[in-house]
Formats: sequence, C-alpha cells, structure tokens
Amino acid sequence: MTVPRHIAIVMDGNGRWATRRLLPRVAGHHQGVDSLRRCVQACIERGVGVLTVFAFSSENWKRPADEVSGLMDLLAKALAGEVASLRKNGVKLHFVGDLDPLSLKMRTGLREAETSTADNTRLVLNVCFNYGGRWDVAQAAAKVAARGEAVTEEAIDRAMALAHVADPDLLIRTGGEQRLSNFLLWQAAYSELYFSDKFWPDFDEAELDAALAAFARRERRFGLTAAQVQRAA
Ligand code: IPE
Ligand code: IPE
Ligand code: MG
Repeated sequence: MTVPRHIAIVMDGNGRWATRRLLPRVAGHHQGVDSLRRCVQACIERGVGVLTVFAFSSENWKRPADEVSGLMDLLAKALAGEVASLRKNGVKLHFVGDLDPLSLKMRTGLREAETSTADNTRLVLNVCFNYGGRWDVAQAAAKVAARGEAVTEEAIDRAMALAHVADPDLLIRTGGEQRLSNFLLWQAAYSELYFSDKFWPDFDEAELDAALAAFARRERRFGLTAAQVQRAA
C-alpha cells in the first residue's frame, strides 16, 4: 500500500463535539489535543514522514474573546506538556504562520520547542498557527521581491512557509465540511483530498487507516493521461 509521505489535516469539529455533550467549546479543543497526540503516534507507526496540522487560522481571531484566549492558553499548555515526549518520540516540531501577534513569552516557547527537537528525524510535525494560505502566498511574494529575485513559481516555492517539506500528498478535513478555509492554498495544488464526517476529537486510528486506504486507491495523474501514468509505473 502506498503511504503518503506528507499528510495535512484541517482538524475541524472540536466545537460541535463539545456542544453535543453540553460542554463549553474549549473542552472540545482540549480533547482535540489528545486526538492530535494519538494521530502523531499513528503517523509514526505507519511511516508517514510529515504531518501538517491546522491549529488556528488567521480568521479564527474573529471568534468570541473567551474562545480565542482559551485557544492561546491551550497552545501554552500543550507546549509545556507535550514537547518532552515529542522530543523523545523523534518528532521535529515547526510552527508555521504569522507568530508576530503572539506574546514574546509564547514566541520564545515556540522557538525553544523547535530548537529542542531540531535533530529529530522520525516525523516532521508542522503546527499551523495564525496561518492563512493567502498570508503565506503574500509573505512569500514579499520575500521574493525583497531579495530582488525574479517572480517565478520556484522562487515563490522557496519562500513559502512550508519550504522545508514537499507538498502534502493527502489533505484530510474532519468535521464534515468540504472546504479549505484558507489552508494550504499553494501547496495543495495536487494533494488528494479526503473528507471525514467525524469531529476531530473522534478521529482515531481506524479513521486514519480509512483515509490511508482511500489514498492508496487513488490514481495521481498530475495532468498526464491514465495510460501515461500506468506506463511509467
Ligand atoms: C477546529 O474546530 C479548531 C479550530 C478552528 C481552532 P472548530 O472550533 O472549528 O469546531 P466546529 O467547526 O465549530 O465544530
Ligand atoms: C479551519 O476551521 C481552521 C482550523 C481547523 C484551525 P474553521 O472552523 O475555522 O473553518 P470554517 O470557518 O468552518 O470555514
Ligand atoms: Mg470549524
């Protein structure tokens, strides 16, 4: 079975998971961290090399203030609670997005987490926080212009926030919605898309395996004909 080298996930449905249980939405986000921990482990066991997750979008600031501050607290808590075991498990952490609006303490913590896991090689975990696909394209274009480079696809590619990894092979969205919501607009050009109706806290190993099985059945053609692809295989 072909295993994707890079999986990207829009971890959606935490709020509805909590509301269904008459819990505050932030309880769903807490549960979402447990789900991510399990997913990281499952990806390692299945030989996935890169996992990129959407944790907070540039549009999520518009949510009620208590939810936004709950999410910021959760990031700080996850940082304090998870980094040691991620480091032990061979996970290399990257935080991707516009981190400037975060507190200095938070930014320092994120950078320290990256530094302390920098030598790991089992799984690259990109956590997209205050990330937006349009922000990414714009910041890349600004970088290319500042370097005085010609504006080519390759130059933009090198300046994108995920330039350290290849594009995602499989992009999963949980929670039942079928949209990108400003996630990897540039990098998802040829990703296989997979939508799960499960809320993110309920996305377990069996759901991941269902997504992997669906991926293995896809024929990726990259613009070629099926006959061309089969001849090359
Ligand atoms: C995704 O879950 C997590 C974040 C956006 C931070 P939601 O909070 O969007 O959950 P739903 O879509 O409201 O259920
Ligand atoms: C996308 O989910 C962002 C994250 C999962 C972090 P949203 O819940 O914010 O997306 P919309 O608003 O339903 O499009
Ligand atoms: Mg949502």
